[in-house]
Amino acid sequence: MNLLIMGLPGAGKGTQAEFIVKNYGVNHISTGDMFRAAIKNETEMGKLAKSFIDKGELVPDEVTNGIVKERLAQEDIKASGFLLDGYPRTFDQALALDAMLEELGITLDAVVNIEVDPSRLVERLSGRYICRNCGATYHKIFNPTKVEGICDVCGSHDLYQRADDVPETVKNRLDVNIKESAPILGHYEMLGLVKSIDGGQEIAKVTEDIKAVLG
Ligand code: AP5
Ligand code: MG
Repeated sequence: MNLLIMGLPGAGKGTQAEFIVKNYGVNHISTGDMFRAAIKNETEMGKLAKSFIDKGELVPDEVTNGIVKERLAQEDIKASGFLLDGYPRTFDQALALDAMLEELGITLDAVVNIEVDPSRLVERLSGRYICRNCGATYHKIFNPTKVEGICDVCGSHDLYQRADDVPETVKNRLDVNIKESAPILGHYEMLGLVKSIDGGQEIAKVTEDIKAVLG
């Protein structure tokens, strides 16, 4: 299965991606995670990405398209499919993705669009914390760890908050993404691929709805 997951910052893309990847055996491709890994490894691309991410701006299309193209060309993608999380995020990225998939002979099966009222997203992002060891995502109110300060999945004590989850940056991330997402969704709606999900429900109910639309 070849899927996209879309939604504004904090809508629950990463949270639901954990379920989709486990349930359908697809490869998770998150451009945000790829940039954070490059920042951690202090690569040239990471340094460039950081200068945009810290301001809540989008990394330039040519850089983002390049890393996605390279990843999609790897062997495991043809064998077990993918879930793209956080890409495409501009209309030009959507066109670039169409071209990449055509070249690789891959077709998209569905675009899962998680809809949440933007007014709820600041609270979601400011309460988010992530396991540095395995990447599991939690929320201090909506999805806390079973034991405080310890990751349920891997037992690590190293939980952190993302630097771009501070309120000033969140506001810009939301503005940028609200503006960019409408034409992308229009593009996939025309192709009949969009499955919209009410992401304002509790996490387990959102998962159930995704399962229902993907089968
Ligand atoms: P990225 O990492 O993709 O961030 P984002 O799109 O801003 O989305 P988030 O990861 O913040 O939110 P999410 O939807 O995954 O929510 P989550 O499941 O964690 O990108 C970061 C940056 O990298 C961008 O700003 C940009 O600079 C750059 N970048 C990335 N891709 C790019 C691209 N294609 N082009 C250019 N630049 C790019 O959930 C959030 C919180 O809510 C968690 O605490 C979770 O526990 C909780 N939660 C989840 N679901 C629910 C629910 N149903 N009810 C209550 N709480 C919930
Ligand atoms: Mg995410």
